[in-house]
Amino acid sequence: MTAPLHFTFGGRVSKVTFKKDLDFSLFGDENAVLTVFDKNTFSLFGAGAKNPVVLKPGERSKCWRSLERVIRAAVGTGLGRDGLIIGVGGGMVCDLAAFSASVYMRGCRSILVPTSLLAMVDASIGGKTGFNFLGYKNMIGTFYPAELVVMSLEALKTLPEREYKAGLAEVIKTAMLGDAGLFKLLAVNRKEVLARDPDLLEEIIHRSISVKAGIVEEDFRERGKRAILNLGHTFAHALEAVTGLEVWNHGEAVAWGLARALELGVRIGVTGKDYADSVIKLLADYEFRLEAGSVIGGNRRNNLMPLKTSAIIRAMYADKKKREGKLRLVLQRGICETCIEFVGDKLVAEVLRKEMR
Ligand code: GLY
Repeated sequence: MTAPLHFTFGGRVSKVTFKKDLDFSLFGDENAVLTVFDKNTFSLFGAGAKNPVVLKPGERSKCWRSLERVIRAAVGTGLGRDGLIIGVGGGMVCDLAAFSASVYMRGCRSILVPTSLLAMVDASIGGKTGFNFLGYKNMIGTFYPAELVVMSLEALKTLPEREYKAGLAEVIKTAMLGDAGLFKLLAVNRKEVLARDPDLLEEIIHRSISVKAGIVEEDFRERGKRAILNLGHTFAHALEAVTGLEVWNHGEAVAWGLARALELGVRIGVTGKDYADSVIKLLADYEFRLEAGSVIGGNRRNNLMPLKTSAIIRAMYADKKKREGKLRLVLQRGICETCIEFVGDKLVAEVLRKEMR
């Protein structure tokens, strides 16, 4: 197993350990711990957990009401400021549990046990917490790194294929940002990666975390460089928002968003065409859906509905990554060469219209 990693995010030390099994008895006294799950992670990993709060699975649970449930349970348990809120689950649980910890009594202790690949390489690392509001992703949030993140690779064995692939989209994004070797490893070992070869997985997770944590250590509060982690995400968050937050999962939307960012970059002469082609080929080899098409399904009641370019653009403006009325987008010149550009919405609409007929 990989040795523990130590990072410093905004002056707080955050330790990452790799464990084979979860042992909740390690985590403090009965009345000093609250453990947040969703229904799936509770049935898989809940045995022995102290004071469980079990949320409905899915992105829609990342909401104000879930926060209230966690805080009520914390009060009911008599959790003090030195108490511990543990989040055991994917991105939804990690973001919500960590947010709860960040505001409960102005901040109690926080441990995250990510059980999806996406949460291991992204949501649990770097201290962004939050929940969705008014249909928009992460509209309310804080910066509050967990003191400990426990990576249990066992959890990935039971992860549904769709969720696993969602994590791979973030891994590909991370490789594009900061690890050309990882990009190559993903291209050369596609079969083994899809088969979840344990050694490869550990290497992929370790390398992804190192890239992300390196960026966050330099710019914890996203005043500058950290924004590059949003590569593909302004498009992705808009697609998720417009389609009701559950039709495309986050990783699927990120893969789609990466393709749009590359196309836009080529269109405005920022991104090398060969590089864009190589990433789009990798995403296609991993069978990500790169075209939303004209009917992509899903208003809030999951009724199929035609997707409108204008709705995506509106949602992109509502996302936090804008300045002075223009869309501020993360683009790439090539691998590990990332830049931020202000782009007018006409150009963005052109790129979107190409595939949403
Ligand atoms: N997921 C993007 C970030 O942590 O900044």
